[in-house]
Amino acid sequence: MERVIQTLLTWYNLRARNLPWRETSDPYRIWLSEVILQQTRVAQGMDYYHKFVEKCKNVNELASLDEAEVLKLWQGLGYYSRARNLHKAAQKVVDVFGGQFPKELDELQNLPGVGEYTSNAIRAFAFNLPAVAIDGNVKRVSSRWFGVDIPINKSEFSREIYPWLMKYCEESEQPNLFNQALIELGAMVCTPTNPKCGECPLNESCFANLQKRQNDFPVLEKKKKPLEVRYQYVALHFRGNWAMYCRPDTEIWAKLYEFPLQVVASETDTGIDSWLENLPWIESGIIKGRKEFKHQLTHRTIRATCWVVEMGDKRGERLSPENETKLYPLMEPYQWVREVDMELFPIHRLMEKMMKFAKDCISS
Ligand code: ADE
Repeated sequence: MERVIQTLLTWYNLRARNLPWRETSDPYRIWLSEVILQQTRVAQGMDYYHKFVEKCKNVNELASLDEAEVLKLWQGLGYYSRARNLHKAAQKVVDVFGGQFPKELDELQNLPGVGEYTSNAIRAFAFNLPAVAIDGNVKRVSSRWFGVDIPINKSEFSREIYPWLMKYCEESEQPNLFNQALIELGAMVCTPTNPKCGECPLNESCFANLQKRQNDFPVLEKKKKPLEVRYQYVALHFRGNWAMYCRPDTEIWAKLYEFPLQVVASETDTGIDSWLENLPWIESGIIKGRKEFKHQLTHRTIRATCWVVEMGDKRGERLSPENETKLYPLMEPYQWVREVDMELFPIHRLMEKMMKFAKDCISS
C-alpha cells in the first residue's frame, strides 16, 4: 500500500469524530444517514437521523408509514422529494428485495432517490466493497490533492478523479475506512477556507499544498441568480381553526400543507381584495396582521406576504363545535383544520414561520 494511504487511515483512526452511522454496517442506517447528509450538515443531520431510527428501527417500519408521516419526520430539512423518495425506496426494498438492501450497483441505483453517490456510499460503508462515494468534501480534497482544475460541479470532474480514488481505495483494502477518511478530511481539515494543511495526512503529496495554491482549488462555476417569485398567503382563522390546503404533486413543496396562497406577478400587492371573489364572506373578517417574509431556496427566492384574517362569530348562529366551520364554507382544496390537529400535517419552513406569526397575531 502506498504510504500516503496508510498515513490517511492512521490519521482517521486517531482523529475521526464518533458519528452514529460510523458505528454500524446496517445498510438501512447507512442509506438513511447518507440521504439526510446530502441535505444538511452533520450537527443537524444527527437529530434527524435519531428521530428516524427511533421511529423506524428498520426498513420495514419505514415502508409501513404513511407518506405524510415520513414528510413530518423530514419536516424542516427542505427538498421534500428526497423524503418521498426515501419512503418509496423503503417500500421497494421491502416489496422487491424482501427487506434486504441489494449490493449490486444497478439494483441500488434503481431505488428511488439513490444515485451514484448514495449507491457507492452504501456499497463502501455497509458492504465494504470497493467503491468511491464522491460528495462535496471528497471533491474539494481531490481537487487540491491532484490539482484538478475542472469545475467540481461538472461530471467530467468526477470522471477524472474516480480512477485515482478507486486505485487508492482498492489498495487500502478497507473501502469503508478509506471513504470515511476522505469525507472526514474534507469536513475537518481540508475546509473551503483556511485549510489546516499542517495537520493534513496528505500534505506531502498534495498538489495545492506543495504549490501553495490552496485557494485556487476547487474551481467553482459561477452560479445563476435564483429566480424571484412573489406569493401572497391568507392565514384565515376562525375559533381555533385554520384554513389550509395540501400542495399539488407537481410543484415545489409537493404534498405539504400551507395557508391559501396566490402567486402574484410582480411587486403589486393586491391585499386580500382578490380573495373576495372566491370567498365572499371573507369581507366580514378582521385583518389582524400582515408581514413580509423572504425565504431562500436553492433556485428560487420567495418573497411572501402573509395576511392574517380573523373571522368573527355570526350573530344568532349557534352551532356545535363540529359544525361551526360550516358558517364559513371553504371550497376544494381548502379545508378547516383544528389548531390542535396541525401537528399531524407536514409543513415547510416558510409555513412554520408564518404559522408562528399568525398565531401571535390571533392571540395578541
Ligand atoms: N457527509 C456525507 N456522508 C458523511 C458521513 N458518512 N460522515 C460524515 N459526514 C458525511
